[in-house]
Amino acid sequence: MKTPRLHPETIEEVKQRADVVDVISESVVLRKRGKDYVGLCPFHQEKTPSFTVSPSKQMYYCFGCGASGNAIKFLMEVGKQSFSEVVLDLARRYQVSVRSLEPEQRQQLQRQISEQEQLYEILALAASFYKHALRQPQGLVALKYLQSQRLLSEAMIQEFQLGYAPSGWDTLYRYLVEQKGKPVGHVEQVGLIKLRKSGNGYYDYFRDRLMIPICDTRGRVIGFGGRSLGEQQPKYLNSPETKLFDKSKILFALDKAYGAISKQDQAVIVEGYFDAIALHAVGIKHVVAPLGTALSQEQVLQLLRYTESKQIVLNFDADAAGTKAFERAIEKIYPLVYGGKVQLRTLNLPDGKDADEFLKEHADSADKYWQLLKEAPFWLDWKIEQLLGGQNLQDVSQFQRVAQEMVKLISKLDHPNTRNYYISRCAQLLSRGDAQDLKQLQENLNSQVSKYRKWKLKGSENTNLPQSFQLLPTTSESNLLEPAEASLLRIYIYCPEYRAQIIRILEEQDLLFSLSHHRFLWQKILELQDSAKEGQNDTVESLISLLQDLSIEFPEQMKKVAHFFHLDEIHFEDFSRTPLVIRAAAACLEQVAYQKRRQYCLKQWEKLDYVADFRAKQYYWQQLYEAERRLKELEPIRRASLSDLV
Ligand code: UTP
Ligand code: MN
Repeated sequence: MKTPRLHPETIEEVKQRADVVDVISESVVLRKRGKDYVGLCPFHQEKTPSFTVSPSKQMYYCFGCGASGNAIKFLMEVGKQSFSEVVLDLARRYQVSVRSLEPEQRQQLQRQISEQEQLYEILALAASFYKHALRQPQGLVALKYLQSQRLLSEAMIQEFQLGYAPSGWDTLYRYLVEQKGKPVGHVEQVGLIKLRKSGNGYYDYFRDRLMIPICDTRGRVIGFGGRSLGEQQPKYLNSPETKLFDKSKILFALDKAYGAISKQDQAVIVEGYFDAIALHAVGIKHVVAPLGTALSQEQVLQLLRYTESKQIVLNFDADAAGTKAFERAIEKIYPLVYGGKVQLRTLNLPDGKDADEFLKEHADSADKYWQLLKEAPFWLDWKIEQLLGGQNLQDVSQFQRVAQEMVKLISKLDHPNTRNYYISRCAQLLSRGDAQDLKQLQENLNSQVSKYRKWKLKGSENTNLPQSFQLLPTTSESNLLEPAEASLLRIYIYCPEYRAQIIRILEEQDLLFSLSHHRFLWQKILELQDSAKEGQNDTVESLISLLQDLSIEFPEQMKKVAHFFHLDEIHFEDFSRTPLVIRAAAACLEQVAYQKRRQYCLKQWEKLDYVADFRAKQYYWQQLYEAERRLKELEPIRRASLSDLV
């Protein structure tokens, strides 16, 4: 559903209630310094904290990259959410009652929120029902299993809210629907009961299973994993996908792990629920697990929010038999890996054991696990290692095959510096210490990689990184910004029917007016709108007259924007193709933002050393590339209308 426009009072109240420190400390580790808090900036890579949060100003500011804003903007950036999504979320969290601008949408909105709350409540009730059942005679087998097979303490059973789904066909159904009076439709919606094939009556989805609640990052139960205790197949049954439960977006135990992830500056992904639980039990808490599906980019990006150096360790079963499964599990995140967005490491436990089995082995297994984590090789190094494993390089054909595989692998790397690094490294491995060979091999690999890339990428320009950037002229310098901003303001003032759209674009894309007199005018317009009663300054005349009244209070600033209150003929042209002009002007504003970002990244990139900092350098290159890509994308949109105005 389209999100309704929220009432300014609701927005204001959310702003009042949502404390910036409270909100940010959920994803950034903050330390108190003086009256402010500091931490590592989540918006750029840094080693020393320059990200500052001020409780008195209710703002954050990064001295490194210039990112700044309030609690709402922070959540928009970090969660890639729109303004209204964030405000709605915060309203729920801080119990602010929500009003929308359009009266008919208000009720719908309230309904939508209260229905969601009810779904969460049903899931929480189910979790407590299962917990309770674990302590009943019928749950004894499950409890014993947790204690003696899984060696879990009472504290861990509690922490993970483990439970037991009784073996009857409808015990949960009767509890939730008959005893607690929950609507059948809602219980069905969260995947706890299913309609019988015959069409009359429902039965419990989970029966005679050990129940593992799966929570969102705020710790709310959104689904379950159920492990069979006997022969029942499948071994693990997970909640079906529901409105609240999207397997590709959720990671098991992230709600309990994110603090530790930012502390360790690393996230560990294991395969199974019990691997994660077992690691948490021994104090290794920066660990999560997917829900029996391949890793999605979204899951990885979610983890990357908490680790500043973008380190993820995959502890998957990858012995001879598991390698294929392992590759499949990470296939979808290859773009992040080859693009250098994540520093992926691989951890294989001895004898193909999973973490749970490994930890149960010895008293000092936890220490060993920490050690193995430290030594975990980069995924690419590990891949290369695998290529070499058991191959006899004296043998010409085996040598050729290994070299060929290396070329293919290196060719996929987006970043030229990383490619060069691995070309040298592979040449070294292949030459086995022969200096003469080394130079020759390096040249060979180099030319083969180039050829392979040309062949692979023929015709698809977008995956090909430019060797050097063709910098576009900076919009703010090229006197395009002034007319773009002015057009937006003028349309806002003179075309009331486009006001909502303009506000939405600015809010959603978080765009600012760069020129100070424009910023001033926009500020005043918003203030007038907020303080107005419904319908009051809807007309062009009333808005202009209210604005002109400000001349008494702000004579200097108002002089600079006086021209907005008189129209020239040329401006009517704007109004004849308004949507186009709005789009183009917004694109122009966005370009300015990206140009600033590009400038910053370029500076950082130039400062870093190819060898010593090549990974950080690679990161900025990637960012630069991203900014450049977006700038290019915006260029035709901006040109579409504005170029002929200047
Ligand atoms: P595994 O079957 O590989 O092993 O499941 P495990 O976690 O070691 O199982 P235990 O130790 O015998 O309990 C790994 C993960 O794959 C998903 C679950 O998320 C599980 O934790 N899975 C597995 C399913 O979703 N369904 C299944 O039938 C099996
Ligand atoms: Mn296991």
